[in-house]
Amino acid sequence: MEKISEVLKVLKERRSIRRYQEKEVPEDVIKDIIDCARFAPTARNLQPWKFVVITDGLLRKKIAGICDYGKFIADAPVCISVFCEDTKYYLEDGSAATTYILVAAKAYGLGSCWVAGDKKPYAEEIRKLLNVPPGYKLVSLISIGYPEGTIPAPSKKPLDEIILSAPSRKR
Ligand SMILES: Cc1cc2nc3c(=O)[nH]c(=O)nc-3n(C[C@H](O)[C@H](O)[C@H](O)COP(=O)(O)O)c2cc1C
Repeated sequence: MEKISEVLKVLKERRSIRRYQEKEVPEDVIKDIIDCARFAPTARNLQPWKFVVITDGLLRKKIAGICDYGKFIADAPVCISVFCEDTKYYLEDGSAATTYILVAAKAYGLGSCWVAGDKKPYAEEIRKLLNVPPGYKLVSLISIGYPEGTIPAPSKKPLDEIILSAPSRKR
């Protein structure tokens, strides 16, 4: 039971973090975070993804310069980019993997932020910059690092506003 409540705490306390300490993130931690993403669900269990880990400062600066709402990638010690083969459900599959990465990062005490990839005009430019083969689509870029300072909890809609009652059965 204790383990379950820890997982729920991680889910409920995760938030987008856009300011990071300079402290490096151990390689094995990043590897394990991606290992968690491997277990995300995918349509027909295709697992169409590839991940690129970017730690090089110059490359992160280049990516930050390209992304309109991801300037903080330059200051995060790590950026993981999520690509998926162009399958029917590539976006759902890549989004599930992205969510697993955000949650796994939180479980390691790390902050992270999902930066949009899919539908952005820069998606192809980033694929080429990272030498990812043609046919793969950029789903997301995820900045990761130890959080700097604290941020207020984002406002979330209350439960009673988002649960609709199912129609009652007609007799
Ligand atoms: C599909 C998607 C794209 C996003 N793109 C960006 C982005 O480009 N830049 C950014 O700073 N945050 C981005 N976010 C993060 C959202 O702004 C954030 O999740 C939202 O404000 C709720 O805050 P929370 O993550 O702390 O709950 C994105 C989130 C999603 C799901």
